Amino acid sequence: MATVADAKIQFTRQLHPAPTSPQARAQILANPGFGTSFSDHMVSIEWDEQRGWHDAVVGPRGPILLDPAAAVLHYAQEIFEGLKAYSQSDGSIALFRPEANAARFNQSARRLAMPELPEELFIESVRQLVAADRDWLPTVEGGSLYLRPFMFASEAFLGVRPAKQYRYLVIASPAGNYFKSGAPAVSIWVSDYTRAAPGGTGAAKCGGNYAASLVPQAEAIERGHDQVVFLDAAEHRWIEELGGMNLYFVFADGSLVTPALTGTILPGITRDSLLALARDEGLTVREERYSLDQWRDDAKSGRLVETFACGTAAVVTPVGKVAGRDGEFTIGTGGPGQLTQKLKNRLVAIQRGEAPDPHGWVMKL
Ligand code: PLP
Ligand code: COI
Repeated sequence: MATVADAKIQFTRQLHPAPTSPQARAQILANPGFGTSFSDHMVSIEWDEQRGWHDAVVGPRGPILLDPAAAVLHYAQEIFEGLKAYSQSDGSIALFRPEANAARFNQSARRLAMPELPEELFIESVRQLVAADRDWLPTVEGGSLYLRPFMFASEAFLGVRPAKQYRYLVIASPAGNYFKSGAPAVSIWVSDYTRAAPGGTGAAKCGGNYAASLVPQAEAIERGHDQVVFLDAAEHRWIEELGGMNLYFVFADGSLVTPALTGTILPGITRDSLLALARDEGLTVREERYSLDQWRDDAKSGRLVETFACGTAAVVTPVGKVAGRDGEFTIGTGGPGQLTQKLKNRLVAIQRGEAPDPHGWVMKL
């Protein structure tokens, strides 16, 4: 396991001249989309049983060498995080709740039998990469630099047991809108597949969860929807979350519901932040089970007026339509709802340094 001393390790900086020309970069930054272009550098830190965390480097981004027997390629011992660096109205750059990502990274590490990374080292690694690649912050409205810390088992060994060597990397990708359609509200498909079962890895951010969500997600797209929503594994009745976002339901009386953290959904940091912001507004938010049948009935009766998805990549995205084997229904007017927009604006204003930060979430770099 990592020790506090590991957090004190020095990063070697091997910066290289930007391989992307300023013109090409400017073009990307004006319209970055999501996840298709990458900054110039990456962070790499190694772990083994003898030395703990060592060899921390900020170097040129590029292909990595892996033994074909590396455990990650066989048994998917891999975890990741997603957070963003935001340009502030005063010209500085800030992270949003990076300590929450660091803590969740270690929760995932424990579930996947991987070594923990000291939280200070996680934050320092992200800080180092943003410092090296600060020219990669998008110029487009709503843009940010998406940061992807991840760790995988690099030991060459074919037995099934926790590996004895790991590699931690951080890469960065300029990000604009997560949804290509740019539609005011997304349409979601209720999957027959299950994402996570009790006792499984649903609450961990591990690659395997996403591999299992690809067929259901592809099915949603084929049917003309933007995203997939998963129900619980035991009864196939209770709403859990989308492939990469948590859900909130907004009622006509102004109260909200979000599915409780039962161990089968990811404890989203955006979900948690919105919980606090809604309560700051004096709204009632319940963390409880909510069924698909109830959702449909409430949307039809008008008791439910809005639904939105939330996550680092998707920020706050209104859900306009829900479809499944039993037919489809529209939420509210099918477009963005008022409370959804209000909570989104509150969150984004804090992230951008345009509003006070009463919870101390913003970390200026
Ligand atoms: N649920 C899943 C499955 C996710 O992949 C994500 C994205 O990270 C979320 C929820 C939202 O989490 P966060 O708000 O921390 O980005
Ligand atoms: C995120 O919001 O950071 C995610 O990880 C969602 C998706 C890109 C996997």
